[in-house]
Amino acid sequence: MNKNNADTAFFGQPKGLSTLFFTEMWERFSYYGMRAILLFYMYYAISKGGLGMSQVTAASIMSIYGSLVYLSTLVGGWLSDRVWGSRKTVFYGGVLIMLGHIVLALPAGETALYISIALIVVGTGLLKPNVSDMVGGLYDLEDRRREAGFSIFVFGINLGSFLAPWLVPWAAQVFGFHIFGNEMNFHAGFSLAAIGMFFGLVQYVLGGKKYLSTNSLTPSDPIDKGDLLNIIKWVVIGVVVIAFVLGIMASVGQLNVDNVITLLTILAIALPIYYFVAMLRSSKVDKVERSRVKAYIPLFFAAAIFWGIEESGSVVLAIFAAQRTVLHIGSWHFAAANFQSLNPLFIMILTPVFVALWDKWKKQPSAPEKFATGLVFAGLSYMWMALPGILFGTSGRVSPFWLVGSWFLVEIAEMLISPIGLSITTKLAPNAFRSQMMSMWFMADATGQAINAQIVKFYSTGTEVQYFMAVGVVSVVFAIIMFFLVKKINILMEGVK
Ligand code: PHE
Ligand code: ALA
Repeated sequence: MNKNNADTAFFGQPKGLSTLFFTEMWERFSYYGMRAILLFYMYYAISKGGLGMSQVTAASIMSIYGSLVYLSTLVGGWLSDRVWGSRKTVFYGGVLIMLGHIVLALPAGETALYISIALIVVGTGLLKPNVSDMVGGLYDLEDRRREAGFSIFVFGINLGSFLAPWLVPWAAQVFGFHIFGNEMNFHAGFSLAAIGMFFGLVQYVLGGKKYLSTNSLTPSDPIDKGDLLNIIKWVVIGVVVIAFVLGIMASVGQLNVDNVITLLTILAIALPIYYFVAMLRSSKVDKVERSRVKAYIPLFFAAAIFWGIEESGSVVLAIFAAQRTVLHIGSWHFAAANFQSLNPLFIMILTPVFVALWDKWKKQPSAPEKFATGLVFAGLSYMWMALPGILFGTSGRVSPFWLVGSWFLVEIAEMLISPIGLSITTKLAPNAFRSQMMSMWFMADATGQAINAQIVKFYSTGTEVQYFMAVGVVSVVFAIIMFFLVKKINILMEGVK
């Protein structure tokens, strides 16, 4: 059934792609729908259905949460390779994600928030890398439909991400008004996220049985007894170290959300450094491969800065939407959370444009040049957001088109960095570190958001002009440095294009 070139049932693609398409579409629906309202749930007053946290803490939690979700893909990839195989790992992940949303659907306050975060962090780590991996597994290496298959899959990501910021806030509002007599009932919104993941799981199980290969039911490199003892040793050491650090923090009265976030930020910065050092020093990496890993370092930096800006759309720009933006165009009224659909919308619009561009452009720029250009656009998307404050002051509300413009600019950057980064990552990977290198791509996003978790603390309406300018300038300055390094990076890439 699988890897059958004659199977063309889903837009000319194998039927299994449809299963994976809808699994990831619903998973992203639940994730981005939840995130569209989570920020407001955290900082809205208790009388308005929120948790009444400070806006600064809420913003910082949003960022570190986003970071951990991608950091945990390291564990998910490993469990799939060595223990469960991708089919089961994705299933367990989906179940944990659904439970995470159900926990938030209950009116159980801050405790429920942290339990939900833990479930969704682990669940996404299990699901996301392995569902993409299975897409690759649908095709023989020489199957020319492979790239198109991935494009269709990415379209599913964005379709789910686009619909959710309309439907989830809508559920929260409709049920808030009609059933609870409140402006918003966030729990109703989180319920819809849980239902979305439930749909995804049902069709994954039904479709998976019929259309996904039985290879995905077994791990590719199962652990043996010897490995197992070693692993148990390291897990025990890890748990003891964590307990020890938290214990010390508690004993000096420093065990609080802010400090835990700081620790996690350090972890999200230290991990990629560790991985780079490990790859560069490994005896399994030859000279050419080592050079390619070195070339990847500046690309990783650029990607982390880009993802930091891109992902701040659900934090900083969401706050701007709620507090500084006119929430209607003529008689058409919308919610601040709805702005989250602009990112995936622009991806869906711009992807065909860029596909055509790369197709037509014969002497097109190299990957490092595309990255540098992307950073310029990411920086511009932020500097653009400094303008309304400069022109009109920061006390009133401004046109929603400022945000539309900012998302348009950052999505041009995404076109120049995200698909190119994904493919260059696989090409620059040393043979012995294929899946670890893939994790590096998720880690670039995680590191960017971990840095956000610290810097968003400086964002407020009073500081918005300085904030947008400062981060925007950092991005553009790094772009300029990158342009100077292009030649060197291309040499280090050793023939990879
Ligand atoms: N929006 C992307 C997604 O949901 C974010 C992302 C990019 C995540 C790269 C991981 C790696 O897929
Ligand atoms: N921007 C989100 C992602 O890159 C939707 O796919």
